[in-house]
Amino acid sequence: MKVILCENYDEMSAKAANIFAAQLTLKPDSILGLATGSTPVGMYKKLIEKNEAGEIDFSAVRTFNLDEYYPIKRDNSQSYFTFMNENLFSHVNIDINNTCIPNGEAEDAEKECKEYEKMLAEAGGVDLQVLGIGQNGHIGFNEPDEKLESYTHVTGLTESTINANARFFDSVNDVPTKGITMGMASIMSAKKIVILASGESKKDAVKALLDDKITTSVPATLLKTHPDVILICDKEAYAL
Ligand code: F6R
Repeated sequence: MKVILCENYDEMSAKAANIFAAQLTLKPDSILGLATGSTPVGMYKKLIEKNEAGEIDFSAVRTFNLDEYYPIKRDNSQSYFTFMNENLFSHVNIDINNTCIPNGEAEDAEKECKEYEKMLAEAGGVDLQVLGIGQNGHIGFNEPDEKLESYTHVTGLTESTINANARFFDSVNDVPTKGITMGMASIMSAKKIVILASGESKKDAVKALLDDKITTSVPATLLKTHPDVILICDKEAYAL
């Protein structure tokens, strides 16, 4: 795993955006794997600026998001569908038909998972995946467990994740308790992965990412077996 240590969140976001820009320069029809949450927002802002400046073009890009709450209405202000539109898609020249997010409104969630995995495979897999990391080491909604799921699946969210995400909702009771997420094998099949970590609350997860152990109790540690992962983090996240 390559590590890029940054002074602060802004530098982390700029470095990550530069890697995405380089990817689109090299392969304009890239398949991008996208994440939500606070961490990639700065990177998305910089990608919007680069798109506005004519430095990068999203017209041929396809995207797959890691996850979505389940069940949730797409027009809920906290759905990842809304998040992606507000933080990236509505600001760049992407064809919205080329963007895929697990459907939190699906009546048959199991069927939705199978179809999502099939679409990913048919697209030929993700070229560049961005990940955030949970305080508990989750990636996507792959929460710490004895066994991790390989492919897209419905999952329960842990108390740690529900509490961490409560900041976006009126109350902790409003946070959905389930999600649809790509599985570990779906994520690991990306050709290149950039994982971002910012702030003191991520320091334990980053420490686990950088020691020499792999454990399903910190799902992100499985990334150590991937041949092309770049961790970009700020000093606070790197503290331990
Ligand atoms: C979001 C996702 C999650 C977040 C993680 C960190 O699509 O898959 O794994 O990346 O929970 O969230 P933030 O960035 O809000 O700290």
